Amino acid sequence: KIVILDFGSQYTQVIARRIRECHVYSEIVPFTTSAAQIKKLAPKGIILSGGPASVYAKGAPKADKGIYKLGIPILGICYGMQLVSRDLGGQVERSARREYGPGSLKVDRRSDLFHDLPATLDVWNSHGDKVTKMPEGFRAIGKTENSPHAVIADPKRKIFCLQFHPEVAHTPKGKEIIQNFVHRIAGCKPSWTMGSFIERICQQIREQVGDGQVILGLSGGVDSSVAAALIHKAIGDQLICIFVDNGLLRARETAAVEKLFRDNFHIRMKTVDASAIFLKKLKGVTDPEKKRKIIGNEFIKVFEAAARDLKKSSPGKYRFLAQGTLYPDVIESVSISGNPAALIKSHHNVGGLPERMKFELVEPLRQLFKDEVREVGTELGLPKEVVHRQPFPGPGLAVRVLGDITEEKLRMVREADAVVLEEMKASGWYYKVWQSFAVLLPVRSVGVMGDERTYENTIALRVVESRDGMTADWVRVPYDILARISTRIINEVDGVNRVCYDISSKPPATIEWE
Ligand code: XMP
Repeated sequence: KIVILDFGSQYTQVIARRIRECHVYSEIVPFTTSAAQIKKLAPKGIILSGGPASVYAKGAPKADKGIYKLGIPILGICYGMQLVSRDLGGQVERSARREYGPGSLKVDRRSDLFHDLPATLDVWNSHGDKVTKMPEGFRAIGKTENSPHAVIADPKRKIFCLQFHPEVAHTPKGKEIIQNFVHRIAGCKPSWTMGSFIERICQQIREQVGDGQVILGLSGGVDSSVAAALIHKAIGDQLICIFVDNGLLRARETAAVEKLFRDNFHIRMKTVDASAIFLKKLKGVTDPEKKRKIIGNEFIKVFEAAARDLKKSSPGKYRFLAQGTLYPDVIESVSISGNPAALIKSHHNVGGLPERMKFELVEPLRQLFKDEVREVGTELGLPKEVVHRQPFPGPGLAVRVLGDITEEKLRMVREADAVVLEEMKASGWYYKVWQSFAVLLPVRSVGVMGDERTYENTIALRVVESRDGMTADWVRVPYDILARISTRIINEVDGVNRVCYDISSKPPATIEWE
């Protein structure tokens, strides 16, 4: 395994992810971990992460210098590099200018670190300090326009240092560099699988929970579904899921979720039908933000009440609340534009759950990225429809009925949505796009059906592609599929006589209409 010493970089989890991609196990430990403790973990390599500090700043995080004497290969990244250089007698200086953004790196291809890589690599920089004098035994094996010491190495001691970030997507060959370190230099075998990862997480859940009971708010979305399956694998009936039917769900949603989790997975599940309350609270409300607020608040109330009932039934036991929080939900949104961390930031679904309920959180997906969560879900036997499901907003169909919400309008959008879903799946497009859905517009128009004039509602069809929901473009869906969807909606959904296709990108439009 590889040990990652964390100096507070926002990319530390990304390093861990890259190592997982090399099929090697890694463990992130705080920079304060002593060399003796690290030795006990018996890693084949140590990676020193980046970090926000300057090595010369007061209170700058330091590593135990004993790590250099363990004889274990070391890779220092950014701050890690500066630390290694300073610890081993080199010199690090504040650059006049912070080097930030893309750069071009010329490498010494004889080094194992650059095995099988081209002589020039695009790399991503984000650092203020730089190494001006290498420690003894080191030589430069990579340079950029700004720095003759962008990559330095002491091949004898197997210590390698990179000034740039190999872990981010903006360093296209970064994964290969990390792989060279992990496989060739540290000698780790690519033997580690998702299955063993799942076992480890289950073990951690069991240790955390003991004989307590865990409540999980199940939405039917990817994250909460995978969290449910995973926690259930770990602790079985100590898990109970609460599913809130807010009356704003898609057609047959509740039945599908119950069938999968209760009938197939044998997970204890409590469905709360709160649709009447939600619809009552939403009556006459047209402002989109107000709608969202009402739905958010109501959800918390209903969930709390359900959780309280459980607590009453078994006092002291229900101490845990599980959430499907992913790593991109955890990292802070980074304000500097062009920062690659912004690429892995996505909307999060963490619904501001009530602190006063005094739950301890169980968040087994906290280290994972979305695609890894899908892999875990697949491994646990969840069906493709769940694991590769398109995102569905928390406020549900309420933000897809523009203006005020009535049962009748919900029926129309729900039926139209079902047609869209069916046709997108049948044509194979459902899994190719980010989202595809119907929106009921507050617009009526004239039509003709048989010999009769109609004056009915309009459905807008929205199909978008996106990487992370932050930006999006409309999909050039083949006309014949659009035609089939339109014909079916107009024929099958009572009250609709017109279908439009939304051809706006985000920005300036958003994906949802409200
Ligand atoms: P917008 O409409 O902001 O949507 O372009 C971006 C992505 O986020 C989803 N979305 C939500 N998801 N709660 C959610 O869990 C919400 O309130 C919410 N609003 C929008 C939307 O479906 C798209 O994928």
